[in-house]
Amino acid sequence: MTVDLGLTDRVVLVTGASAGIGRQTARAFAAEGARVALTYRTGEDRARALVEELGGAADRALAVPYDLADPGSVDAALAEVERRWGAVHVLVANALRRGRRRPPGGRTEQVPAGEWQPLLRDNLEQTLRTVQLVLPGMRARGWGRVALLSSHLTRDGAPGQEFYAAGKAALHGFARSLAWDAGPDGVLVNVVSPGLTRTDGVLADLPAELRDRETGRTPTGRLSTPDEVARTIAFLCSAANGNITGSVVEVSGGR
Ligand SMILES: NC(=O)c1ccc[n+]([C@@H]2O[C@H](COP(=O)([O-])OP(=O)(O)OC[C@H]3O[C@@H](n4cnc5c(N)ncnc54)[C@H](OP(=O)(O)O)[C@@H]3O)[C@@H](O)[C@H]2O)c1
Repeated sequence: MTVDLGLTDRVVLVTGASAGIGRQTARAFAAEGARVALTYRTGEDRARALVEELGGAADRALAVPYDLADPGSVDAALAEVERRWGAVHVLVANALRRGRRRPPGGRTEQVPAGEWQPLLRDNLEQTLRTVQLVLPGMRARGWGRVALLSSHLTRDGAPGQEFYAAGKAALHGFARSLAWDAGPDGVLVNVVSPGLTRTDGVLADLPAELRDRETGRTPTGRLSTPDEVARTIAFLCSAANGNITGSVVEVSGGR
């Protein structure tokens, strides 16, 4: 028996694909013959370079602006993909608006509402809205796949990550219930929860001692690569995934 992912010519929308896990996810779907729409916020040049790499000239890839802080841009991005390719078969909700890192010694209760409320609103509400926008088409076609990117921090926690983790954990409850609602229509929805992953951002910004600490707590003795997360997403969002839905799949080396 061979495993056919059945992704040829499927339209895949990957949000936040101008960097990190999203960029590698776009590559993984393109390698399976999918048409890939990728979104960027500030990284237009990086997104356009990726479109070229994935066959933009042959209409295999396209880049659209998408800003979680701007609901109008969410609508416009979806409309542009549907106008160009007529459908969204797969949604990978990966984009993340990062918050300010809390200064050492700072407490949860000192984070101003003006800081954490917009962060939750953008990351959670606009991600859920993006899912709402793709669902009618998926239901009508009787086939769809959704992956929501979460984090091991929903389980492990870490000081300074309270509001980030709250927003991510909410995705788990959403996916569990959406699985019931959309499953009979052929739409499967799963959460992919990476451990600390060797993206350019993590390698450049995270203090080495934190990376070493995480590595030491990981049964496989190493951090995940963006490619390993991307391949998991591609499988869950493929035709080879026939009946996995409402699950949280961890890609964390057993952390
Ligand atoms: N890397 C890890 O260790 C790790 C661990 C656990 C979970 N995750 C999750 O995996 C996902 C990807 O993380 P990553 O580390 O690969 O991220 P990343 O390298 O920081 O890339 C973030 C992506 O999101 C886009 N983005 C940033 N702000 C945005 C906004 N306000 N609206 C829309 N898009 C925005 C960026 O676009 P521009 O660059 O164009 O601005 C970029 O394409 C996230 O959901 C994250 O929570 C990551």
